[in-house]
Formats: sequence, structure tokens, C-alpha cells
Amino acid sequence: PVLVVDYGAQYAQLIARRVREAQVYSEVVPHTTPVDEMLAKDPAAIVLSGGPASVYAEGAPSIDAALFDAGVPVFGICYGFQLMAGALGGTVAHTGDREYGRTELSVAGDAGRLHGDLPDAHPVWMSHGDGVTKAPEGFTVTASSPGAPVAAFEDVDRRFAGVQYHPEVGHSPHGQEVLRRFLRDVARVPADWNTANIIDETVEAVRRQVGPEGRAICGLSGGVDSAVAAALVQRAIGDRLTCVFVDHGLLREGERGQVERDFVAATGVDLVTVDAAETFLRELQGVVDPEEKRKIIGREFIRAFEGAARDVAQGKGADFLVQGTLYPDVVESGGGSGAATIKSHHNVGGLPDDLQFSLVEPLRALFKDEVRRVGAELGLPETIVRRQPFPGPGLAIRIIGAVDAERLATLRRADAIAREELTSAGLDDVIWQCPVVLLADVRSVGVQGDGRTYGHPVVLRPVSSEDAMTADWTRLPYDALERISTRITNECAEINRVVLDVTSKPPGTIEWE
Ligand code: XMP
Repeated sequence: PVLVVDYGAQYAQLIARRVREAQVYSEVVPHTTPVDEMLAKDPAAIVLSGGPASVYAEGAPSIDAALFDAGVPVFGICYGFQLMAGALGGTVAHTGDREYGRTELSVAGDAGRLHGDLPDAHPVWMSHGDGVTKAPEGFTVTASSPGAPVAAFEDVDRRFAGVQYHPEVGHSPHGQEVLRRFLRDVARVPADWNTANIIDETVEAVRRQVGPEGRAICGLSGGVDSAVAAALVQRAIGDRLTCVFVDHGLLREGERGQVERDFVAATGVDLVTVDAAETFLRELQGVVDPEEKRKIIGREFIRAFEGAARDVAQGKGADFLVQGTLYPDVVESGGGSGAATIKSHHNVGGLPDDLQFSLVEPLRALFKDEVRRVGAELGLPETIVRRQPFPGPGLAIRIIGAVDAERLATLRRADAIAREELTSAGLDDVIWQCPVVLLADVRSVGVQGDGRTYGHPVVLRPVSSEDAMTADWTRLPYDALERISTRITNECAEINRVVLDVTSKPPGTIEWE
């Protein structure tokens, strides 16, 4: 792999994704990893990420210069660029002029491998207070910027290069090309990480893990992760996999069909559906408090899944439990070995002791966009592969007030209309997700036809986000909003008002409960 050494900024995972976009497999390792441990992974190249510290700050993360004696290509970015310069005998100085945000990169006469025939001046994204003032011996300086006399350097013979700016962000329009050139022209790493290889390698690894006789069980949620995980395991072990789908009655329009019909048709997977809608409704009756709703749903979900898992284990037998853990969860929980932190209830954290499974995690090495591409390549339905995030507790936490069948039906319809209109307006890639929230305990007066109405409002909550940790409300075109509003108030008898949530996160969360 290409190792991305994380110096504590939020950029390391993004860099790893960009390396993979250049079709090279990459992994993130913490900067505290000893050099021999890094080398033991036989890295094709090492990328040093940016970081928030000043190289001068006390306790600032440093670098073991032995890294540069191993014959492994190294690319330094921002803080990593400065560390590299310092370790190899260049000079890093506290220049005083902070350069933050968009700035212009001037490419030198000898632009080298990385910047050759890029525009003489082009925008890049910078974020630094210190700067390299003298490149180490053997390096050619290939670019500068107003705040960074040495903004890029390379030593092609030793296969070292670095940039002061952030090539991984969209604000550096040539950044991806520069990274790709480092990998291809300086490090000379083959570009062979593609969807077909990912599938082959994963299927092979699952076969090895489960063995020729082993059986597995997989919970499906209707979302992309569990579906792709199941499809990969199905490809590896065929009908020795049984999928369990708990229908808690809190799903959106069409989602049960997408699992029971479309997913099964695409994969031929052996599926058990647990029809638990009535139980969930009964347990949720009269419950208004959001946390209480979540607890009840979590508890009932595990109960339903456990029952089905027990049946499968006793009937056909099952020794393995498939989980859709993704690479970012693995990195965030400390990386390396062991199970990742289990985040949401439908990842089934609490199975009883007599139901012991080993975990199979076929998506452990993958980012979300790779999971979607694998799903598409495996022929899974578009509706599943492109599905936007939807919370495990489902529509229950989008009804503000108690949950009942009628309110669910109303919200389900309104949500389906909003989704249809967003899709037909081509806005699916603009938004991260758009919860539709029913204010079931609020009524307002309206007029429809000749009559007075006294109905409920729904809230549209379109958000844009990279990772759901922060989000901004999406400036949707007025005509799309108008169509959604008109259709919802016409087609949903209980609803006479549509309002728009214009709160970012923070301070608001994405969901209302
Ligand atoms: P919040 O509301 O915390 O949501 O801003 C962040 C993201 O997480 C989703 N979400 C959940 N996903 N189980 C899940 O699988 C849950 O209990 C849950 N609660 C919120 C939410 O839709 C958003 O994408």
C-alpha cells in the first residue's frame, strides 16, 4: 500500500481517498507508528500529511529520519513537507506571514515532474504559518507562492517530493494531477486499485476466512453498506449466506420492496424477512421523547434480529456474522486489527453470549464511494447503491410527537414526494440527504378549495455535507421547493403547510430527534 502518515489534521483520510482515486491502494497510519512498523507493511510510497502543529511548537509531532534511508518514495504535504525539509537538511523558518486559504502558485522555469506543463500560475489551497526557506541538497525548487518561497520541491533520483499547499482539496484544481504524477512518475507505483480488483480480492479474502464449509448470516437494513457487504459475501460463499431483514415498519416508501425483490433478484441471496412492524408500533405507542424512542427501537431491533439469527443458526447453522464496517470507522477506532467501534443500533452490538459469531467485515478497507462503485459493479439496484443516509430508527425520529400508523403513512407519502421531485430536478448529488419531518403535534390554519383546514406542517431539511459531522443547509432552487410544496399539500390530506429548515449543523443536528 501507499501509507498516509496522519499528522493530526482532518486531511489524512481525504489524502488516502485521493491516492485511491489515482487507482493506488492506500492506508492511513498514525504518525506515532514506528518506522520499522511502517516499513514492515512494505509500502510502495509514503505520504506525510498536513497537521495543525507548528514544527517549532513544543511536543510537535516529528519524523524519524530513518524513514528517508529506506529507499521508499516519500511525498510531503504542508506540515509533512516542512518535516521532510527539516529532516533532510533544508531550512524551515517561522516566517510570520500566515498564508491561509486560496493563493496563487507560481511555477518555476524548471517545473519538474510534478508541475511541468501545468499553468505558470494557478490557484492552490494553503494553510501554514511556518515555511521552507531553503530546500535540502539535491532537491529542485519547482514552485513558489507569495507566502512560501519554496512551495514545491522534488528529488527525482531519490524519489522524494513535496508541496506546501494541499493538493488533496478541491480548491487546488491541479492537486489531484500533481498527486497522480508523484505516484506514477516519481514513485513509479502501478495504478491497479480498481473496482474489479477490489471485488476479486475481497471475495478471495472472505472465502479464506469462512472456509469451504462455514456459514454466515447478514442483517440487511435497506442501506448501501449492508447490501454491498452481503453481495460480496454471497459472491464468495453463495447460499451458505443467509440474510435477515427486519422490517420495523419505519422504513420509507418502496424500501422493503427494494430489499425483498430488487436486491434478491440482483444477487439471488437467501433472505429471511422478519415482519416486526406491529411490535415496534406497539412498543412505541404514546412515546414522545426522542431518546426513549431510540432506545425502544434499538432494543426491539436486537430482539427481532436475535430471534431470526437464532433460528438460522439452529436450522442451517451459522458461525459468521457479516458487518458493513467501513474504513473510516476502522481508522477512527485506532485502525489496524480488531473490530471497529459499533456505531448504530442496527450494527447489532448486543447479541447474547450463546449466540457467538466471528465477524466478517468485507468493507473494512473501503471508503463509502468505493462501496457504491463495488455495489454498482455487482449489479445491485440503483435505489440501494445511490441511497442517501437514512437513520436506523427510521421515520420514527422524523415524527415529532408520538408515532402511529396514520402519521407514518402521512410522512411516508410526503417523504416519497420530496425524494421524487429532488431526483427529477437532478438534485440528488447536490444534497447529502433531505429528511422530511412531520410536526405531528403542531397544527396550523389553512385554506384549501373553499374550506378551512387545520393540519400539520412538514419540514424540509435539505443539507449538504462531507461526512455528516458538520452540515450546511442546501440552497435548493425555488422551483424545486415549489413543486415539492405544492404536491405535498395537494396529495397529503393531513398536511397544509411545508416549511424549510435553514439551520446549519452545528447548531442544529441533521435529524430533528
Ligand atoms: P445528526 O442528526 O446527528 O445525524 O446530525 C448525522 C447523520 O447520522 C444519521 N443518523 C443515524 N444513522 N442510526 C443511523 O444509522 C441512527 O440512529 C442515526 N441517527 C442519525 C443522520 O441521518 C445523518 O446522516
